[in-house]
Amino acid sequence: MDFYHIQSYSEYKEAYKASVKTPETFWESIAEENFSWKKKWNEILSWDFTKAEIRWFDGAKLNITENCIDRHLDTRGEKTALLFEPNSPSEAAQHISYNQLYEKVCRFANVLKQKGIEKGDRVCIYLPMIPELAVSVLACARIGAVHSVVFAGFSAQALSQRILDCDCKMVITSDGAFRGNKTIPLKNIVDNALEDCPDVTSVLVVRRTGEHIKMKEGRDEWLLPLLDSASISCIPEVMDAEDPLFILYTSGSTGKPKGMVHTTAGYMVYSAYTFKNVFQYQEEDIYWCTADIGWITGHSYIVYGPLANGATTVMFEGVPSYPDYGRFWEIVAKHKVTQFYTAPTAIRALAKEPLEFVKKHDLTSLKILGTVGEPINEEAWHWYNNNIGDGLCPIVDTWWQTETGGILISALPKITPAILPTFATLPLPGIQPVLVDDSSKEIKGNPAHGKLCIKFPWPGMARTIWGDHKRYKETYFSAYQNKYFTGDGALRNDDGYYRITGRVDDVIIVSGHNLGTAPIEDVINTHEAVAESAIVGFPHDVKGNALYGFVTLKHPEFSSEKISEEINQLISTSIGPIAKLDKIQFTEGLPKTRSGKIMRRILRKIASGETESLGDISTLLNPEVVQEIIQQRK
Ligand code: WT7
Repeated sequence: MDFYHIQSYSEYKEAYKASVKTPETFWESIAEENFSWKKKWNEILSWDFTKAEIRWFDGAKLNITENCIDRHLDTRGEKTALLFEPNSPSEAAQHISYNQLYEKVCRFANVLKQKGIEKGDRVCIYLPMIPELAVSVLACARIGAVHSVVFAGFSAQALSQRILDCDCKMVITSDGAFRGNKTIPLKNIVDNALEDCPDVTSVLVVRRTGEHIKMKEGRDEWLLPLLDSASISCIPEVMDAEDPLFILYTSGSTGKPKGMVHTTAGYMVYSAYTFKNVFQYQEEDIYWCTADIGWITGHSYIVYGPLANGATTVMFEGVPSYPDYGRFWEIVAKHKVTQFYTAPTAIRALAKEPLEFVKKHDLTSLKILGTVGEPINEEAWHWYNNNIGDGLCPIVDTWWQTETGGILISALPKITPAILPTFATLPLPGIQPVLVDDSSKEIKGNPAHGKLCIKFPWPGMARTIWGDHKRYKETYFSAYQNKYFTGDGALRNDDGYYRITGRVDDVIIVSGHNLGTAPIEDVINTHEAVAESAIVGFPHDVKGNALYGFVTLKHPEFSSEKISEEINQLISTSIGPIAKLDKIQFTEGLPKTRSGKIMRRILRKIASGETESLGDISTLLNPEVVQEIIQQRK
């Protein structure tokens, strides 16, 4: 008997207890009973947090695409695997069955091979939310190539940085992307990015928007003819449990983006297990996660987790506001979506629009609602609960990270008693959260507030940062001895429910996107007029947080609107439009400690309008700048 599908609170408690008491046997029986293996493991778990070394199911052999596709063909061959809803509601949806997905993935995998891609090679995928994105991810996994999906909203520079960091040989892209009533010239962006990436020898191009693009002789090729002439079967590569499956970049508070490496077996088991339980997926359900596959949410909960469970997973190409603000609800009604998983920022944006956009659609198919990416505020929670769930659908507020591979803290719908708004609630089986205080001590007892760490490994955790294991160890395992540090603060109430209170480092979550302050400041500082800058977050009613930049110019008297625009332009081209600043204030100087460190805490308060509670500023090197900054606050 294993705990793969938890169906009651007593089962949850039993499973949780077992997962802490004997984690190895707990995960072994889940792995054994619910997946297909070419060879079983020699050792279930070996770990050493001081060295940041974690291995799960060592010695096992498998291919994740066999688990996500092949094993379903006998029983679910005709069932829809991917349900693609295009940007334009007038274009027909595509129902891609497991049989069809099998064929598409095999053909694509054969094309990759034909282009010289081998096991272990890195392939960069820069595509809009079209079926080829999911197919190319799976095709890489089929032949053991390591995919690195880069969200198609990132700029050419951000793309080339990610291609270079993990030395990709190939880029898969499309001519363009549809986004609402706009098209985005993806292939042009790739062309610009590749000027700095001489080692990319092959670019495969999906035709989507039909716009004119340049094709570089010997490097670029249209995908379709290659697929048409490829064989429809491809024997899956036999992978070791700990072979890398993919790299996905996430921002750190400092330095370049971190290429988080997820490996095969543990990630598969964990994404599938958490999908099944958090969404209580049943055979007939139509599950929809609105994230982009360019983020971890899409990897784990559009592609791998759902497909490993033989689910029908919806992929939406467009945006919530096109052709109007009812689009999400129109899609729910059209496809009779049963589980709907989105971000608080989307909920807040839609809650601002007239309720008419909701009311005209039939949402009675919905059973379970989910949120992810940032803390959800109470108002948004109630709007979601009342208007979308009609008070009948449990909301799972799922807390996790790119690094964790899957959800760590979440209610289980209809199982966890008394789901409280804004609380992620309880750890999933296998997850051992702890709160630590400033002196690094574990806080026992409830209620408690502290920094959130995890003190035992789980199968889905990232194993390293590509090319920089030292940074992995320092970022996640050095702050607190023998614990994985999440970077988040949390409180735990009397019932042991967790509420995530937000980042405690210099990462700011804007519209659910993780942005480091230092990399943005580095970009601003490249502007020739800028002497110095500091970015902080401030509350924003739709984005959750927005960015406020304090900028000191070399010649303060020349401050101008034009420089503000140039700064945002620079950010847009080096990182992407999501990192643009909402407010820019030119300052004579930045408040600093006597050792010269910028006091962001003070800037954060000023940006948020909390100027009454700045605390003692007399110890600053330059207390006089504070008054001036307050007076000229935007
Ligand atoms: C950070 C991770 C997990 C996939 C999407 C974001 C914040 C995430 C929640 C939640 C409060 C949340 C945390 C976390 N976060 N989910 N339910 N409640 N905060 O992945 O880009 O790696 O960001 O997002 O601060 O550390 P990510």
